Amino acid sequence: MKNSIEEKMLIQKAIEAMEKSYSPYSGFPVGAALLTDDGEIFTGTNVENASFGLTVCAERSAIVSAVSNGKRKFKAIAVVSKRSEPTSPCGMCRQFMAEFGDFEVLLAGRENLLRTTVFELLPMHFEMEK
Ligand code: THU
Repeated sequence: MKNSIEEKMLIQKAIEAMEKSYSPYSGFPVGAALLTDDGEIFTGTNVENASFGLTVCAERSAIVSAVSNGKRKFKAIAVVSKRSEPTSPCGMCRQFMAEFGDFEVLLAGRENLLRTTVFELLPMHFEMEK
């Protein structure tokens, strides 16, 4: 998917999701767009809370949205913020993504794009027997 229209579109969808961010405490909007194996895109943004620990990151919002709509197989996720350099997903989001296997992770800063994968970001993730 490197340099493809699909990749550009996914990043664009993540940017649009970022515009909906509810981040009055950090002032750090994040957007995510998740591509399913059958070509659908689900987006998510970070939703903060006065009780800070309840904050939900953009990546987890997107995954919850996809799973709530019956999708569990993913090809890629794009994550954007307003930084010029890529924003790296937190540990909780890495484990949350790893629940659904390995897929591409596009970390897009305004200037630089980093292409990685879920398992590269979180080697030896915790797994239960299914
Ligand atoms: N955040 C995300 O949504 N995703 C990331 O990958 C990094 C952090 C959010 C959580 C919080 O609302 C804000 O960014 C600052 O930590």
